[in-house]
Amino acid sequence: SFIHGTEIMQAARKGGYAHGAYNTNNLEWTKAILAAAQAKGVPAVVQSSMGAAKYMGGYKVVRQLVEGLVESMNITVPVVMHLDHGNFEAAKEAIEAGYSSVMFDGHDLPFEENVAKTKEIVALAHPKGISVEAEVGSIGGEEDGIIGAGELASVEEAKELAATGIDFLAAGIGNIHGVYPENWEGLNFDRLSEIAEAVEVPLVLHGGSGIPKDQIQKAIDLGVAKINVNTEQQISWSKAVKAYYAADKDEAEKGFDPRKVLAPGTQAIQDTVEERIDWFASQKGN
Ligand code: G3H
Ligand code: ZN
Repeated sequence: SFIHGTEIMQAARKGGYAHGAYNTNNLEWTKAILAAAQAKGVPAVVQSSMGAAKYMGGYKVVRQLVEGLVESMNITVPVVMHLDHGNFEAAKEAIEAGYSSVMFDGHDLPFEENVAKTKEIVALAHPKGISVEAEVGSIGGEEDGIIGAGELASVEEAKELAATGIDFLAAGIGNIHGVYPENWEGLNFDRLSEIAEAVEVPLVLHGGSGIPKDQIQKAIDLGVAKINVNTEQQISWSKAVKAYYAADKDEAEKGFDPRKVLAPGTQAIQDTVEERIDWFASQKGN
């Protein structure tokens, strides 16, 4: 069975390291994320966006897939099954479907409504031992149809949202989903420090792909305990599958067996996740 994310994230914030939360899309993604966490001996935080869950056949299917693989792969590290950027309905559905952690993303609502809805999700989730993440300000760019202006989180709003009883807080601090533009100004560490000083909950850094290692390190030092990574897996997967087809091999030998075609991509995802685990020093929690 899954664990919620509260304790491992609190320990990470205290201990000066972070846990990556890695997005899944299908069987191969899920296997790769679980295998990487098991190889490194750290908790696995597997997350699905609303779009990925829809693609995979619904929240229940995602939960069952992860549960099934945990058993068949003999995964012994703790596993968090998290909903990434859920709207109100999705958060409720994921809770019902057996997720152990949900993000309610109300960044596009008027702030007071974001607070009110977050409270409702906390009231549904906490009695079931499910952790809750909420978002203040917004993350720039787009992920799976979730679009944000990259609005810098206000310290006052961060405090108010944290007071709803959430377990971790995602704050817009100049971070962007997807590939960072050439002229990106970097994370806003001043605002991150102010927020970290104002709230005790572990902070979440979205848009974890493409942020230079030194900025990641600084963010962790300032209170970031959960780092979401999605695009990085997608890039390494697609590079590996393209390379497989481009390799100078006989067409017949390359073939069309999906298990052969997808194997290098799956390995590439695992390698990427293992590298991030090292970057985030997730093993410090052991
Ligand atoms: O919620 C998911 C993350 O924020 C992923 O962002 O695709 O830029 O790594 P990324
Ligand atoms: Zn995100």
